[in-house]
Amino acid sequence: MSSLVWIVGGSTGIGAALAKAYLEEGYQVLISARNEERLSTLAESIGCQSLPLDVTSRDACIAAWADICQDSIPDKVIISSGTHQEMPVAEFNAENCESLMQVNYFGVVYLFEAILPTYLTTGGQIGVISSLAGYRGLPYASSYGASKAAVINLCESLRVELEDTSVDLRLINPGFVKTPLTDKNQFQMPSLISPDKAASEIVKGLKGRSFEIRFPKLFAATLALLRHLPYKLYFPLVKRVTKR
Ligand SMILES: NC(=O)c1ccc[n+]([C@@H]2O[C@H](COP(=O)([O-])OP(=O)(O)OC[C@H]3O[C@@H](n4cnc5c(N)ncnc54)[C@H](OP(=O)(O)O)[C@@H]3O)[C@@H](O)[C@H]2O)c1
Repeated sequence: MSSLVWIVGGSTGIGAALAKAYLEEGYQVLISARNEERLSTLAESIGCQSLPLDVTSRDACIAAWADICQDSIPDKVIISSGTHQEMPVAEFNAENCESLMQVNYFGVVYLFEAILPTYLTTGGQIGVISSLAGYRGLPYASSYGASKAAVINLCESLRVELEDTSVDLRLINPGFVKTPLTDKNQFQMPSLISPDKAASEIVKGLKGRSFEIRFPKLFAATLALLRHLPYKLYFPLVKRVTKR
C-alpha cells in the first residue's frame, strides 16, 4: 500500500503544490483547510482526499487526527496552514497579533498535541512550514515575524528532545513564494519563486537529513548571515532595503 501524507493548509499556495508533488511521488494525499468548497474542488481535480479543518480549534485538531488514524496513520504530516496581515506601526493592534498567533503558532501547537503521542509510538515525519521572516525582526511584519519566530523556537526545542525517538521533525523556512498569501504584497519581493519550485525543494529536503529546509538558497543564506549582524549594523541595513 502507498504511503499517506496529510497536508494541512493544502488547498492553495505551497500546500496545494505539495499535494500535487506528493501525488506524483506515488503517495496517497489528504489535504485540509477551512474553506470546504475550495478544498473539495482541488481534491477532486487532482485526485486526493480532503478533510475540512480549522487549526485554530484545539478540539478540531485532536478530532481530525483521531478520525484520520481510524483508517490509517499518515507516514508524514506537513503543516502549511498560515496567514499574514501586514501591520505598520501606526496600525499596531493586538487583534492582528492574536489572530496570526492563533493560526501560525497555536495551529502548530494543537496539531503537535494531537500527533506527537501517536508518532512517539508509531514513528512518522512532521514538516512544519515557518518562514525566513522568523529569523529576525522585519518592519511592517512584527506580528507575522513574531509568530514565525515562535514556531522556529518551538521546533528547535522539540527537535532536541525528539532526537532519540522515531519522530522525524523538520523545520521548513521558505523565502518569498508566489501564492495568494504574497499576492497581497505591494512591494517588490526579492528572489520570488513559484509554489511548484517551493514544493520540489520541500519534497527533496524531507527526503534528506537536514533539520532545517530553507530556500531559495542564496536568499536564505543571506538572511542567515544577517542573523549574526550586531543591531547597530542590522537596523540601518534593514531600514534601507525595506524602505517604502
Ligand atoms: N508564500 C510565501 O512567500 C511564504 C514564505 C514563507 C513562509 N510561508 C508560509 O508557508 C505557509 C503556506 O503559505 P502560502 O503562501 O502557501 O499561503 P496560502 O496560499 O494563503 O495558503 C495557506 C493555506 O492555509 C490554509 N489556512 C489558513 N488558515 C487556516 C486555518 N485557520 N486552519 C486551517 N487551514 C488554514 C488556507 O486555506 P483556508 O483559508 O481555506 O483555511 C490555505 O490552504 C504559511 O505558513 C506561510 O506563512 C509562505
